[in-house]
Amino acid sequence: MALVASLGVEGHPASPTVPSMVDWLADTRASYDTVAQSYADQLRDALAERPYLRGALVTFAGLVGAGPVADIGCGPGHVTGHLHSLGVPVRGIDLSPAMVEIARENHPGIRFDVGSMTDLRIDGGLAGVLAWWSLIHVPDDEVPGVLSGFRRVLRDGGVVMVGFHTGDSVHLKTAGYGGHPMKVNVHHRPPERVKDWLTAAGFAVEAELLMEPGQAVVFARRAEACPASRSTVARSVEAVSQEPPTQPTLGRAR
Ligand SMILES: C[S@@+](CC[C@H](N)C(=O)[O-])C[C@H]1O[C@@H](n2cnc3c(N)ncnc32)[C@H](O)[C@@H]1O
Repeated sequence: MALVASLGVEGHPASPTVPSMVDWLADTRASYDTVAQSYADQLRDALAERPYLRGALVTFAGLVGAGPVADIGCGPGHVTGHLHSLGVPVRGIDLSPAMVEIARENHPGIRFDVGSMTDLRIDGGLAGVLAWWSLIHVPDDEVPGVLSGFRRVLRDGGVVMVGFHTGDSVHLKTAGYGGHPMKVNVHHRPPERVKDWLTAAGFAVEAELLMEPGQAVVFARRAEACPASRSTVARSVEAVSQEPPTQPTLGRAR
C-alpha cells in the first residue's frame, strides 16, 4: 500500500490538489493497519471491564439524543457498536483502512469510512463527536485545527467527548498489540491543556472524568460563538471607538 496516498473519506474522494499525507499521518496509518486485527481481538470485550467508560457512553448517549454522532478514530468499531446498541445513530471514521474493514465486518449495520480528523470531509449538523484515544496521536500544533474541525461539524449545543492518556509526555511507540511493529507518537496530556484547547476552539467544557491509571474523558459543548470570532468583533469595535471623531459637515444634506 502506498503510504503517501492522499486521504479521502469514501464517497468524497480526495481532490487532486490535496497534498500527500504528511509523515506522521502515514506512519500512524501504516501502524494501525499492521496491528488492526490484533487490536480488534484484544479490545473486543474491553468495555465489559470498564464500567466508568460505559457510564460515560450512557451519559453521552443521553446528551446527544437522536444524534447523529461521529466516532472519529473509531478503530475496529467496538465503541461505535456500543453506542449503536444504546440507540444512538452513529457512524465511524478512521485513518486506517484495515481498521475500517474490520469495523464494517463486525458491525454491518453501521457506516464506517476511511478519513482523517485533520481533514474531516463530513457535513455539519452533528449532535455529537466522540474521539476516544485517537487525538493522542495528533501533534500538539495540529490539535487546535482538529478541534476547530470538530466544532465545524457539530451543530450549536453539540457535544464532543474526548478520551486520552493523562500526564505530560510524548513517546514513540515502536511495537504493540502482540509485538507488531509500529511507528506512532503517543501523547500523554494534562487535562487542563486539553480543556484550554477546547475552550479556545469554541467549546464550553462541562465535565471531566479522571480514571486511574492516567486516563481522562472530557465532555464539552459547542458554544454559540467561537472565541476567535468574538475577539474579531471586539477588535473591530475597539478600532472604531479609537478612530478620531469625524467633523460634522454642516449645512450639507445627507
Ligand atoms: C488507540 S486507537 C483507539 C480506537 C478506538 N477509538 C478505541 O477507543 O478503542 C487509535 C485509533 O485512532 C486512529 N487515528 C489515528 N490518527 C487518526 C486521524 N488523524 N484521523 C482518524 N483516525 C485516526 C487510528 O487509526 C486508530 O484506529
